Amino acid sequence: MMDFICTQSYDEMSIKAAAIISAQLINKPASVLGLATGSSPLGTYSYLSEWYSQGIIDFSQAKSINLDEYADISPDNKQSYHYYMHKNLFSKVNINPDNTYIPSSEKEVAAACFEYDSIIERLGGIDLMLLGIGHNGHIGFNEPSDRLEKNTHCVELAKSTIAANSRFFSSADTVLTKALTMGIKQIMQARKILLIVSGKDKAKIVEKAFFGDITPLVPASVLQLHQNVTVIGDKEAFSKIANYI
Ligand code: GLP
Repeated sequence: MMDFICTQSYDEMSIKAAAIISAQLINKPASVLGLATGSSPLGTYSYLSEWYSQGIIDFSQAKSINLDEYADISPDNKQSYHYYMHKNLFSKVNINPDNTYIPSSEKEVAAACFEYDSIIERLGGIDLMLLGIGHNGHIGFNEPSDRLEKNTHCVELAKSTIAANSRFFSSADTVLTKALTMGIKQIMQARKILLIVSGKDKAKIVEKAFFGDITPLVPASVLQLHQNVTVIGDKEAFSKIANYI
């Protein structure tokens, strides 16, 4: 089942997403949180950090597992998702660093992928998975393809993804082209999914992914088959689905 929450702004989207994550932590302090990177969750992480500093939420028992990471990047490289997570969330809340997991960009790929799936299994699965969506419908770095990849794997990024992510890099040349990502199985096995999306440029893909055909050509469309998905989007991102929700 998919619920849609339309907000007036990116900020309202972020507050509502942070509130859902906070409720999860209050109800189950030892929750396993699946986390995403990109621009979409920045506001959410900022509210979570603020509410932690105000004593409203506590991450001491929480565990986190990130969706993806570039391949062949050192964790202290500013472009890495390790760096992003540390900067935007982990360094600001009381989560135990030993309880935070991000795909290893330094190990041999097959071993890193296998190990990641075993970690998710050992943690007992993901309680709440936070997702963004790419312009081409990717979730994590599961790119459009003729088949869905089940498990954590290494992907060659789509040209449009490389172009979209180049805004985080100093020059397009340094943009990384390969990544490790959780597979569709790990995402779909999360007990709850929270997808956040904002901006007019995502309106088309929101309509296609959630009200179009379920197809590996739009990886996020598979979320239509999940039983507990909340999509929070600002009015620009939801502009093409106003009639459906
Ligand atoms: C990136 C990430 C995804 C993210 C998506 C959207 O490439 N790997 O996890 O959800 O693309 O990013 P943004 O929120 O910046 O639009």
